[in-house]
Amino acid sequence: MWRLTVAPLLALISLSTALDNGLLRTPPMGWMAWERFRCDIDCKDDPVNCIGEKLFQDMADRMAEDGWKELGYEYIIIDDCWMARARNKSGLLEADPVRFPGGIPNLARYIHDRGLKLGIYSDVGVMTCMGFPGTPLDKIETDAKTFASWGVDYLKFDGCYSNPVQQMLGYPRMSKALNATGRPIAYSCSWPVYVGGLPPNVNYSLMGDICNLWRNYYDIQDSWDSVQGIIDWFSANQDDLQVAAGPGKWNDPDMLIIGNFGLSLDQARSQMALWAIMAAPLIMSNDLRNLDNAARAILQNKVAISINQDPSGIQGRRLLREKSHIEVYWRPLSQSASALVFLCRRQDMPFMYKSSLAKLNYSVGTYEVYDVFMSRTVGVFNDTTEFKVSINPSGAVMWRLSPTTLENTQKVDWIST
Ligand code: GLA
Repeated sequence: MWRLTVAPLLALISLSTALDNGLLRTPPMGWMAWERFRCDIDCKDDPVNCIGEKLFQDMADRMAEDGWKELGYEYIIIDDCWMARARNKSGLLEADPVRFPGGIPNLARYIHDRGLKLGIYSDVGVMTCMGFPGTPLDKIETDAKTFASWGVDYLKFDGCYSNPVQQMLGYPRMSKALNATGRPIAYSCSWPVYVGGLPPNVNYSLMGDICNLWRNYYDIQDSWDSVQGIIDWFSANQDDLQVAAGPGKWNDPDMLIIGNFGLSLDQARSQMALWAIMAAPLIMSNDLRNLDNAARAILQNKVAISINQDPSGIQGRRLLREKSHIEVYWRPLSQSASALVFLCRRQDMPFMYKSSLAKLNYSVGTYEVYDVFMSRTVGVFNDTTEFKVSINPSGAVMWRLSPTTLENTQKVDWIST
């Protein structure tokens, strides 16, 4: 029913509204409160972890001082539960005065002073998912102006407590309203999740016209099951999703949960590898004050980040699912380079996977192969070189490949990694 009535209107909207903010030519990188800190508003008993200005100041300090900023992590994003329970007398949104005593403008200054950017959250419905005041249609321009005046650089616009018509009107309208403020504000839309994530209910070309990124699928939770579910859904629907992504417009499989409680070291590498393949936003939701060195090394892996941030902005895809439960993912990169990920969906022991680049659709030539997590060159492979690679249960091996010229290379017939 909604398809019949709403779909033609979507086409019209796409002609009239374009988000032209020039932002996010590569996927956004940063930190967001939600997955790790949820709606903990108990600042009396849990002052260190509650959603309040101290948490965001702490994270800004860590981001600026612990090497994150230099690697490209720049957005500190407030999620749900930051607002006072009601709008003020003038009808404006306000931060909870107890938890954010300095207000958002001061927090924005704090974050900007450290060379970082501030993100905030609202919802196209009458309430946010956690029941705080939302931004219904008649408040969109007001709230866009408020956010701009506060110095906000990124808006996550959720969709709880709204219906498809309100979404269809509200998401493009917020896009226009943000543009009209004159402040560059990256725009993250949760619209696709609320209409099933796939065409024809989701018009991804419209999404790319009005939003810089969008959530396609359910919320990530702190578990490998959840990460696997997301990878499976994105791979099953890659034909619809891959074409939607590009510079300035990204699919968002949700936050990185590396450094929390649910992933093993191998699973954490798998998430980082797959998010790099998918050209996904690298938005961590963890406690940067308490991160072990292994998690830090994964999240700060320069080559994994450079794969994610490749300027061509082409989203990668799953190439193969072997009967052995090894899956192979591939992403083309600029300058004829590429990335491969071997993901092991087994639960027994490290699996020795054998293949060749030719079997993985590579054209004739030689390629220098670099192991991203081992930080070493594996060798120079001919397309027909048979290689074997050992992949841990629920782990991933990630390679970066660059073509090289025949003259400079030694031919290797069998390479073991
Ligand atoms: C939805 C979103 C989450 C988070 C919560 C906040 O579930 O998908 O990412 O923003 O709302 O309530």
